[in-house]
Amino acid sequence: MPSDDLSGLCEAIAKGNVVAFTGAGVSEESGIPTYRGTDGFWTKYDPDKYASIAYFEKDPSYYWSFFKDTRGPLLHDAKPNSAHIALAELEEKSKVNAVITQNIDGLHQVAGSQNVIELHGSSRAFHCMKCRKGYNLPEAEEAVEKANPPICTDCGGILRPDIVFFGEMLPPGAIEKAFDLARQCSLFLVVGSSLVVYPAAQAPVVAVEAGAELAIINVDPTPVDHLAKWIVHEKAGEVLPKLIEE
Ligand code: OAD
Repeated sequence: MPSDDLSGLCEAIAKGNVVAFTGAGVSEESGIPTYRGTDGFWTKYDPDKYASIAYFEKDPSYYWSFFKDTRGPLLHDAKPNSAHIALAELEEKSKVNAVITQNIDGLHQVAGSQNVIELHGSSRAFHCMKCRKGYNLPEAEEAVEKANPPICTDCGGILRPDIVFFGEMLPPGAIEKAFDLARQCSLFLVVGSSLVVYPAAQAPVVAVEAGAELAIINVDPTPVDHLAKWIVHEKAGEVLPKLIEE
């Protein structure tokens, strides 16, 4: 039976060699909605339109309207919360080796985490689909103010975010690096993910099969709860600082 005993989990973290694996739940307390669940993005926006490469190629203005009205302002306003900060502190204290994240908001890096593997890319970076010129967030925002879809200032090609749409491959090497980290750690710490999107969701299983202990901090149950030694059904921003304190 998994336990919710925080002091046992603290001891495991104190031993080090921890790899953290995060999802949208870690940024929920920064004001960025999760994807699933009652207030999730996918309850308001159809992922077949907003998150699919096939739809983006058919009508990129659809995604860019969402970016202009929703994703861009959220990114601008969001600041790392105590969960992001706790994970960065644990890395600084050499307890956490790396953060593998499915998030595209860049908040782990803003919090100070150095070794971050972004499995689904970043919504703070963009490039031209024709000449591949790179754009940062303010540049993309300026471009979408001028035209939707936004156009490359060099060649007139259409800009796209450096995120992984459904129907696309993950960034080269990212999942291999994540699985290697999972195999080498002693404790695999999942924070704020429903663990339903593959191949990312395979990482905790890879870790356990290689002999790591698994801890899950998530408000709702996940499909791999039965593999975990510790399960804490509380908000990440409340639990992680408690672990640091102890
Ligand atoms: P989900 O929205 O699927 O799951 C978020 C999880 O976080 C849920 O299980 C919630 O219970 C939990 N949660 C919510 N608030 C929390 C909090 N404050 N503290 C702790 N847990 C909390 O998000 P992901 O698992 O990240 O993919 O979704 C995986 C992928 O699906 C995303 O990367 C994205 C999406 O479609 C792509 O865009 C490719």
